[in-house]
Amino acid sequence: MCYKKKKYSRLEDMSEQEWNQLVSRVNSCPWRQTFHIQPISGLLNDPNGFSFYNGEYHLFYQWHPLGPSHGLKYWYHTKSNDLVNWENVGIGLEPGDYFDSHGAYSGSAIEHNQNLYLFYTGNTRDENLVRHPYQCLAVMNLNGDISKFEKPIIEEVPKGYTEHFRDPKVWKEAGRFYAVIGAQRTDETGCTVLYSSVDLIEWMFEGEIKTKLDNFGYMWECPDYFELQNNGVLLFSPQGLKASGENYRNIYQSGYLIGEKLDLQHKVFNHGSFIELDKGFDFYAAQTMEDPNGRRILIGWMGLPEINYPTDENGWAHCLTIPREISIHGGKLKQSPILELKSLRKTEFNAADSICNETKRYDGFSGVAYELVCEFENGSAAEFGIEFRANSDEKTIIKYDAVQRKVILDRTLSGKEFGLDYGTTRAFDIYLEKIKFHLFVDSSSVEIFVNEGVEVFTSRIFPSENSIDIRFFAMDGKASFKAVKWDY
Ligand code: FRU
Repeated sequence: MCYKKKKYSRLEDMSEQEWNQLVSRVNSCPWRQTFHIQPISGLLNDPNGFSFYNGEYHLFYQWHPLGPSHGLKYWYHTKSNDLVNWENVGIGLEPGDYFDSHGAYSGSAIEHNQNLYLFYTGNTRDENLVRHPYQCLAVMNLNGDISKFEKPIIEEVPKGYTEHFRDPKVWKEAGRFYAVIGAQRTDETGCTVLYSSVDLIEWMFEGEIKTKLDNFGYMWECPDYFELQNNGVLLFSPQGLKASGENYRNIYQSGYLIGEKLDLQHKVFNHGSFIELDKGFDFYAAQTMEDPNGRRILIGWMGLPEINYPTDENGWAHCLTIPREISIHGGKLKQSPILELKSLRKTEFNAADSICNETKRYDGFSGVAYELVCEFENGSAAEFGIEFRANSDEKTIIKYDAVQRKVILDRTLSGKEFGLDYGTTRAFDIYLEKIKFHLFVDSSSVEIFVNEGVEVFTSRIFPSENSIDIRFFAMDGKASFKAVKWDY
């Protein structure tokens, strides 16, 4: 039987010939990335098991090898010495046991007794396609061998919650282990629950984490709890929020709550309002880890479910974001591209000018994969900004609209269209005279850190290969800027 006919097809259902054809279709895609983690074939989604173990960074991701659909999920394993250059290790977790027959879903990693413990959700479906999630464990040893436990560590969904119960994130505090799990109450509202363990094997249900968000979407996916600068931070990806102004414009959201440290005894989290992590079009299911230097580093999935992407035709979809260091400033998370990314910088180009009612180009300012930092100071312009990945018909625009007082990312003319149901611009409100845009542009994506990462726009774009121009503009008045660009 042809593998295409079954949703939960496995790698071995594909013949070698079909596999080679798929991989060559993927490799001939003009939108393959150059410095982002991307799948060798098929679909990538959530980052999983992000950790530092045995002298290296490890990062797994959700992977369906056979095509750009959410079919049977494996964990794919990558590792790195510097968080910039990643080595493809191969399959980390292969689904197929009774407790993960329909996918090794998302989860996390923690070091214990010199091993790396990998926690994940085993997705199963019965003959009527009813889900039953198991929380599962696998262990990686110092040689990098990974073996699954024979039995799940959490077999049942506690009373009061539905089968949407997944994505364990584990941490250690005061000699005890804790896991936060994404859940849906039986009244179909989202929340997270807490488990605890002394040995990572026997787990006890502690109860629901009480927040102020009793009715906030129908499912909270991929939770992550950590402490930073003496605050508690709960990250999660809620589904089912309605767009409101410039907020929640994507199909699903990814954001956080900052508050007092989680009261583990009473399971109470006292927090401020929910804030989106990213203002771009393609960002979801972020996961963090603390590295050996004490930095809190975040990576997200640069994609969203239930949207077709232009690379689908080439047999693959999605990539991960660059790693970002996060910190708390003024009650919000600030995100900075990790410093190690500087190692990618090659030739440097500079430009500085004062422009007025015009769009201008400068020597060396063009390309497909590069880093660009531009500081603008407004004189009298109604709007000013940068057009990039541009040719005569295409352009992606990042700008400040001084009349509406908004920073706007516009992908209306970025190239191949997709996800149009969710609009072609994203924005946030801010009033400023000076603004700094820090762009990381790859073959089919852009990540823009605004004003040292107070906001970030992460988006896929699918321009033609000859859309390489970078242009600076100021309209209805004057603005000055200073820019530096590094080829990658
Ligand atoms: C989020 C998610 C998780 C789940 C995984 C399956 O994108 O739906 O909740 O574990 O993807 O691939």
